[in-house]
Amino acid sequence: MEIELPGFDKKGDLSVEEALLKRRSCRHFIPDPIDLDGVSQLLWAANGFRGDDERFRTAPSAGKTHPIFLYLVAGEKGVRDLDAGVYRYIPASHRLELVLEGDVRRDLVEASLKQAFIAVAPASIVITAAYERTTKKYSDRGVRYVHFEVGHVSENIHLQVLPLGLETVAVGSFDDYEVSKCLNLPDMHSPLYIMPVGYPKREVKNEGK
Ligand SMILES: Cc1cc2nc3c(=O)[nH]c(=O)nc-3n(C[C@H](O)[C@H](O)[C@H](O)COP(=O)(O)O)c2cc1C
Repeated sequence: MEIELPGFDKKGDLSVEEALLKRRSCRHFIPDPIDLDGVSQLLWAANGFRGDDERFRTAPSAGKTHPIFLYLVAGEKGVRDLDAGVYRYIPASHRLELVLEGDVRRDLVEASLKQAFIAVAPASIVITAAYERTTKKYSDRGVRYVHFEVGHVSENIHLQVLPLGLETVAVGSFDDYEVSKCLNLPDMHSPLYIMPVGYPKREVKNEGK
């Protein structure tokens, strides 16, 4: 099953400089759902098409090999108008393809050394890579390139969450096999980052003396 994503904005109210100043890792989320519009915006910003040519995306790619694939983990009532499940992002059509039904956030917490905030955030974007797309062209050096590319995509998400009022953190500490299993990833896709996304819990300032 495929789901058409709403369109995305090409202009925003927050400057790049402001986003850079505000960027931080967030591990305290509220469970409030996020909109499908926000999901659309984030996936496009992460690694969507810049025009009609699939070789050119919002993140650079060594030799246009594009080894990065994105998965959305939507929790139960995590994303408005989207059932809980695991979805693969298809940049060409700006659609989501259902991979697995149901809320897998608890399993993701177990697979990530019990980083419990992953199950509080209403959704996560999991960045994966198909190494051979790049190593086919660049041999062993391609592994390094893939790791650079994950950084580009993750920073795009870090910056794009802010104008949406959302926050995130790049989680790299997890068991690869367990994450692959709970997302039903194909053998060729290796998980590299889990990026929980949601509204931050406001810090309560201690007003006492
Ligand atoms: C490669 C990498 C792996 C990371 N893994 C985790 C992680 O597993 N869990 C987590 O809470 N934060 C993780 N982080 C986020 C860092 O802890 C965070 O960036 C750092 O504390 C600096 O804080 P800041 O992002 O707010 O500037 C990771 C960051 C990077 C770059």
